[in-house]
Amino acid sequence: MKIVGILGSPRKGGNTEVLLDVALEEAQKNGVIIDKISLRDKSIAPCDGCLGCTQTGKCVIEDDGQEVYNKMLEAEGIIWATPVYFWSMTSHTKTLMDRTYALGFPKLRLVNKVGGLITVAGGRGCMSTANIFNMYFNYNHMFFAEFAYGYAHEKGEIKKNTFAKNMVKEMIHQMISLINASLKYPEEFDIPMPRFVRKKYQV
Ligand SMILES: Cc1cc2nc3c(=O)[nH]c(=O)nc-3n(C[C@H](O)[C@H](O)[C@H](O)COP(=O)(O)O)c2cc1C
Repeated sequence: MKIVGILGSPRKGGNTEVLLDVALEEAQKNGVIIDKISLRDKSIAPCDGCLGCTQTGKCVIEDDGQEVYNKMLEAEGIIWATPVYFWSMTSHTKTLMDRTYALGFPKLRLVNKVGGLITVAGGRGCMSTANIFNMYFNYNHMFFAEFAYGYAHEKGEIKKNTFAKNMVKEMIHQMISLINASLKYPEEFDIPMPRFVRKKYQV
């Protein structure tokens, strides 16, 4: 089982990275092969809207985006981790998200993968950010775990937030459980994920 974590924070060792590392360590402890992609280290140009991918299934932009596509396609689980910037994701994250439009052709290629989300805000905006990912996962016919979030401002401050760290671990357990369940679109797509995982954990 492979899970890839996509880090959209430009701040090295920042709060989002702390939580993503908690997630990936927990996954590894449970025998999952993990991979972490820091978007700040990648050169990924914005989608130019050529729509070439809708005809060919390929993005014409030759940059680090191609490597990230491959990692996303290889993994069964994809965790997006982003700080909240103005009630939304960072531009690093959104740039990649837009580029994944190419993975929707000739048919949705992220279908049946399991999504996870980690967001960190200084004080507000985790929910509005999560809404976009909710739409994104739905659009891609992905299954997704309950998302994990936390509030912190100073670099690394989230380390003190046990609640957020536990939420991240819980998200990983849900993701592993969803991956093991091998749910398929469309038959199982209408099962609300929280209900599925609550039943699984009997909570
Ligand atoms: C450009 C920018 C925009 C931000 N917008 C918000 C916001 O809308 N809501 C909020 O609560 N915090 C906002 N913050 C604070 C960050 O979300 C917060 O500092 C977070 O811990 C950063 O995560 P990181 O350490 O992983 O980079 C913003 C920070 C920056 C730099």
